[in-house]
Amino acid sequence: MAQLPRTTRVESLAFVRRVLLPPVAKGVIIRRPHAVRAAQRLDLDRRGVRYLERLRDRYGPGPLLVGGRYAVILDPAHVRRVLAETPEPFGTETPEKRAALAHFEPRNVLISHGPERAERRRFHEQALDTGHHEPRLAGSLAGRVREETARLLAHAHETRALTWTEFARAWSRIVRLTIFGEVARDDEHLSALTTRLRHHANWAFLHRQRKALRAEFLQHIDALLGRAEAGSLAAVVATIPRSEATAVADQVAQWLFAFDPAGITTYRTLALLSSHTTYARADDRDLLRACMHDAVRLYPTTPLLLRATTAETAWEHGTLPAKKTLIVFTPFFHRDAERLPFADRFAPELWQSGEADRWTLVPFSGGPAVCPGRELVLFLGSEMLSTLLAGASFRITSSQTLDPARPLPATLDHFRLQFAVES
Ligand code: HEM
Repeated sequence: MAQLPRTTRVESLAFVRRVLLPPVAKGVIIRRPHAVRAAQRLDLDRRGVRYLERLRDRYGPGPLLVGGRYAVILDPAHVRRVLAETPEPFGTETPEKRAALAHFEPRNVLISHGPERAERRRFHEQALDTGHHEPRLAGSLAGRVREETARLLAHAHETRALTWTEFARAWSRIVRLTIFGEVARDDEHLSALTTRLRHHANWAFLHRQRKALRAEFLQHIDALLGRAEAGSLAAVVATIPRSEATAVADQVAQWLFAFDPAGITTYRTLALLSSHTTYARADDRDLLRACMHDAVRLYPTTPLLLRATTAETAWEHGTLPAKKTLIVFTPFFHRDAERLPFADRFAPELWQSGEADRWTLVPFSGGPAVCPGRELVLFLGSEMLSTLLAGASFRITSSQTLDPARPLPATLDHFRLQFAVES
């Protein structure tokens, strides 16, 4: 069998510098404001996409071996295959993910394999109502989102402005209410613990694990879940069968972490809607969901999908050994100007017509490991957007321009994004 193509040493270094380093520097587990700002200023996200375009032009569809351990996916059909054939032979547990996530959730589904993974996946799907547009808690969750958002709006009207700090504060209250209920609404200690552990996790192998802190965090989650407050996910969790292998606290820890990108995406969607006003229709939830979906296509919050090969696999142009880490860099597939007519513009209609499937757009991943929180994220985010749009109009006042007539920037620094708010 032929050999898969392989980058030269110089190209491997350039790949690490241009493709892997920017998302790692920005913070895989928790974002670092300075690095996000630098990425926007230097247009690093666009450079990563351009570099992969060059490698694809040089080596064809790949997979392309990089150094001794990595293989990068360059063909949309290969993305579909890797995601569909997860977790065998493409396991989700890679050494890189384990090093990061073990800091705060060592038994999480993302870094599990075999029967344990199956059990933990079942838990997430049941608890989060995966595959249903409206979670079974829709009524109570929507009420809480609207209440918190109304409070945020009142403040925004007073100051005539909306900043990330205010938005993020309201969002984290919504998250705690969604997961645990009123009991956690103002539980800043929980958020502080999460933030500390996630800062350690950003450093993966390079930071010592703080086991006592992790134990305190997981026990705190267990205690809050024990309250099983009606109308919260904790109440749903209480009704779901579990075994020792489920490791419930380690799964719920992931929710706390994963709701962050959901808030970032909601805020970015507001920015896109404020400059693409034809889509800003407060009463059309389907459209708002599609807008969020396209915002996360344009600005993916999980730009690196990683898989560990558990066996040798055959491809059109050669075989790939076991124990390699496969890399899907999603911006390359979402923003590929050579292939996609809509690469750099806001195109929510893709998600309403089903056309998105045709193009391999995978901001929530796909296949058996697809994000089980996708529908919940789109539900909560669209609920919040609908309340915001019904209550005010928003105009970007920070330096970012999202002009519909020009290609959208590759990076959108949410930390610095600010709006003027008018009635
Ligand atoms: C904008 C928000 C979010 C985005 C873009 C997102 C995206 C993703 C992606 C891309 C993956 C798969 C990674 C892979 O294939 O290796 C994933 C996995 C996962 N997500 Fe999300 N996610 C979001 C929010 C959430 C939320 C709020 C929850 C929970 C409430 C959640 C729960 C999970 C879980 C449990 C997994 C692991 C699934 C598995 O390995 O089987 N996500 N997410």
